[in-house]
Amino acid sequence: MEEFHKVRRLPPYVFEQVNRLKASARAAGADIIDLGMGNPDLPTPQSIVDKLCEVVQDPRTHRYSSSKGIPGLRRAQAAYYARRFGVKLNPETQVVATLGSKEGFANMAQAITAPGDVILCPNPTYPIHAFGFLMAGGVIRSISVEPDDSFFGPLERAVRHSIPKPLALILNYPSNPTAQVATLDFYKEVIAFAKKHDIIVLSDLAYSEIYFDDVPPPSVLEVPGAIDVTVEFTSMSKTFSMPGWRMGFAVGNERLIAALTRVKSYLDYGAFTPIQVAATQALNGDGSDIAEVRNIYKRRRDVMVESFGKAGFEVPPPPATMFAWAKIPEKFRHLGSLEFSKLLVEKADVAVAPGIGFGEQGDDYVRLALVENEHRIRQAARNIKRFLSAADETMHNVISLNAHR
Ligand SMILES: Cc1ncc(COP(=O)(O)O)c(C=O)c1O
Repeated sequence: MEEFHKVRRLPPYVFEQVNRLKASARAAGADIIDLGMGNPDLPTPQSIVDKLCEVVQDPRTHRYSSSKGIPGLRRAQAAYYARRFGVKLNPETQVVATLGSKEGFANMAQAITAPGDVILCPNPTYPIHAFGFLMAGGVIRSISVEPDDSFFGPLERAVRHSIPKPLALILNYPSNPTAQVATLDFYKEVIAFAKKHDIIVLSDLAYSEIYFDDVPPPSVLEVPGAIDVTVEFTSMSKTFSMPGWRMGFAVGNERLIAALTRVKSYLDYGAFTPIQVAATQALNGDGSDIAEVRNIYKRRRDVMVESFGKAGFEVPPPPATMFAWAKIPEKFRHLGSLEFSKLLVEKADVAVAPGIGFGEQGDDYVRLALVENEHRIRQAARNIKRFLSAADETMHNVISLNAHR
């Protein structure tokens, strides 16, 4: 029987292959150190959990909630943008709460895409950026992920040679998986370009608060007039260690926000009210919870860069996000990222995300998530060191796995 049209557009998740291997290694008793999935391991701050528990006692909160988000939550998000970015938003018309930023992004794609619309999407990137639009009937044209001058030449060409003219351009800085951060000057050029060509800008700012340098990542909405063409997505998942709560936001251009709000009003009744109330409290907090999360990731990053480097696996220090994006050591690069990732599970008890899962341009890399504690990261480095030196001696055995490709 032929596969359904939509399902045909969703190939099996590449990460699933590593996950399966990880599960069977664990079932056989291996202690796998999991740097694969970007699933934060830190507990949600206690004050947020307490608020949820308090509010859930009130039966009035058990009814359907508000699809676009309760007013206090939207006001809190607008206040965050004012405080953090100096961007003024109308919480009534320019802010909508989403069930995580992933849902918001995917439903924005549903809201704005006609069959065959061309979307400019970085490669490599977080999979929903492409698949949200593929599911909505769009067509993806890959662009560079480098947030510098080299971004614009290929972008010009992509716009000139796309039929129909592209509908939207996706930005994601700090980037998952590459961890690159964009400057405001870069955003200014992107917005000028988008306005010139009448292209919508969709910015995924999920890692707005997970940064390690002195300069916090900007919002593209800081560019004067950006709101004419832009919607930006943020997430509570990483900032407040709330991935399972499913709470995020879309903010920006009124017409686009109205389109997303309309689609969502047909699909959901909003997050559970106690979650929305607890999220409101989190956003209105003094920032100390965020600083603590940031410091933990920073220490883990430093430990990873140092210990992996000593083990012979060079990891460039990411300036932001909870990921390092590391080139596969030269002698294994020809295997490709999926086979290399499988090898690490089998021979080093370490799980990583193969770069190919983020797009064809990612195949020389693996992504390492900072979701294990410092002790476990050091252990992963020791395992990898052992694997690398054993590989030197028994290279023929290791490389033979390539035959399975
Ligand atoms: C770039 C990026 N966007 C969105 C998400 C999803 O966030 P949420 O939990 O808010 O749906 C992630 C999660 O890993 C991400 O890395």
